[in-house]
Amino acid sequence: MPRWLEVCALSTLGDPGAREFSSGDGDWPLPGFVVHYRQRLSAYENRCPHAGHRLNWRPERFFDREGRWLLCASHGAVFDPENGRCVAGPCPGARLRALPVRCIDGRVEVDVEGWVWER
Ligand code: FES
Repeated sequence: MPRWLEVCALSTLGDPGAREFSSGDGDWPLPGFVVHYRQRLSAYENRCPHAGHRLNWRPERFFDREGRWLLCASHGAVFDPENGRCVAGPCPGARLRALPVRCIDGRVEVDVEGWVWER
């Protein structure tokens, strides 16, 4: 069964826009982010496939200045916001881990059922 976590109202996301969220309690909640790009929603685990760092150093800063690509702040990996594939940088072809996302009545929700931190 899905377990939908409400992240934000769609109306509060820009296009392009991104919003961080976390799932789980305790000392190690799982970090993720939703992306709104060209009127489509995506959600990803906030972990770069290159070295496992979070992509952003500053809150909600995932896109480049032009709002075209997602950037990893650590070593500059560049990801396609529509599918999470790395298109430039140190891990070309690798992908961000995608999570199921939906918009219901203007609320952006992510299915966090079964989401575990894979090593
Ligand atoms: S950890 Fe993201 S580019 Fe190295």
